[in-house]
Amino acid sequence: MPVDVLIGLQWGDEGKGKIVDVLAPTYDAVARFQGGPNAGHTLTFDGQKHVLHQVPSGIFHPHILNVVGNGVVLDPVVFRQELQKLTDRGVDYAHNLYISKKAQLILPSHRALDRISEEARGNTKIGSTLKGIGPTYSDKIGRVGLRVGHILLPDFEKRYREAVAHHASLAAPYGKALEIEPFEADFFAAVDFLRTLQLTDTEYLLNDLLTQGKRILAEGAQGSMLDVDFGTYPYVTSSSTIAAGACTGLGIAPRHIDKVYGITKAYCTRVGGGPFPTELTGEVGEQIRQAGREFGSTTGRPRRTGWIDLPALRYAIMLNGVTELHLMKADVLDAFAEIEVCTHYRTLDGEETPNLPDPGQLDQVTPVYQQLLGWYTDLTNVTEAAQFPKPLQDYLAFLEKELQVPITIVSVGPDRVSTLFR
Ligand code: GDP
Ligand code: IMO
Ligand code: MG
Repeated sequence: MPVDVLIGLQWGDEGKGKIVDVLAPTYDAVARFQGGPNAGHTLTFDGQKHVLHQVPSGIFHPHILNVVGNGVVLDPVVFRQELQKLTDRGVDYAHNLYISKKAQLILPSHRALDRISEEARGNTKIGSTLKGIGPTYSDKIGRVGLRVGHILLPDFEKRYREAVAHHASLAAPYGKALEIEPFEADFFAAVDFLRTLQLTDTEYLLNDLLTQGKRILAEGAQGSMLDVDFGTYPYVTSSSTIAAGACTGLGIAPRHIDKVYGITKAYCTRVGGGPFPTELTGEVGEQIRQAGREFGSTTGRPRRTGWIDLPALRYAIMLNGVTELHLMKADVLDAFAEIEVCTHYRTLDGEETPNLPDPGQLDQVTPVYQQLLGWYTDLTNVTEAAQFPKPLQDYLAFLEKELQVPITIVSVGPDRVSTLFR
């Protein structure tokens, strides 16, 4: 079974991009299956940092195919900028980047609608990245969206105008105009550029690879707690971020899926609104934010920080069928003499539970913590998992016992080389 899926188990930004880049050489293709420019995946190697939004994180490996699947919502303007940056850095993607003709197009009017609907939410804002994600997925499900393949049709501009007219009618009740004219020239230039790329029916491409016995890594975006069904609804994104999304987002049958890598930080972060039971709003939270440089790769917003949340992780592990855990950013906790782990929640009726109640009601639970000894050592100099200090070994063993999944990678720094296999 040659498809492995890599997904975030928390609220995103767990370090997925880094691990995809590290594992990519053992695969023939890396395929993004959902989300869009709301994602920011950071890769660091050879002293350079790269942030990818829609381009799969295998792109720095010239022998690997990189596929943008049908489940993705693609902003041509952002895509063109990303690819320009790659060109500037000498990366040739002409031969190994493929885009599904069934992926949905994000239009300037989707971005405008995102902003208008967020503004209208007053103090219940989702904290959207304002990249047009919600409105574009709404159009997809409403069967009025434009697909990448539509740009190849002679009447594309007519279809575009119809979509914009529809969006204007959605904005009107808010008393707002779309104000997209300044962005249209850029959009059409980016569409012209998109036409020059390899647009295809990627479900065939991927299934042909499988027939040849090749291996595919499906790259998740966002995190399980942002999943539109299972996350902290309505404070979620608009897509299926869990492993199952890889099947619908790529056109791969479930029987092909083997491993599911679950990526989690050694603590927890969230950017945007919504419940976050283990959030630390004081000094400790700030210490984690600074040590982990927890500022969004897409929007630059400070990320909310907190201790690791095992009830939420248990839930995510169940939903995704995680077979291996990768623990990221362990080094960020180097300066802590003690580390807290949320093992249970106390619910409103005073009961303690290891499980997650309705994620939509997570604001009503109180975390119950267990204190563990910190390792209080600079992990960035550790080059083998066997050299981990005893308190870190104990922390890993504790997590494995609580979560019942082996931790096979511990990451101790942003660079490719700071990835320790166990
Ligand atoms: P993604 O969205 O899941 O790919 O994660 P992001 O790239 O948005 O955020 C992860 C951030 O942590 C990036 O800035 C990475 O460079 C950084 N990072 C990844 N792994 C580690 C690690 O083990 N230690 C430290 N200190 N930083 C890391
Ligand atoms: P990666 O792939 C962290 C969050 C937003 C907001 C909510 C809805 O880098 O882990 P949207 O723009 O999707 O309508 O926003 O989801 N969000 C992310 N948070 N990492 C991401 O992606 C995210 N993508 C969306 O902050 O709270
Ligand atoms: Mg990110």
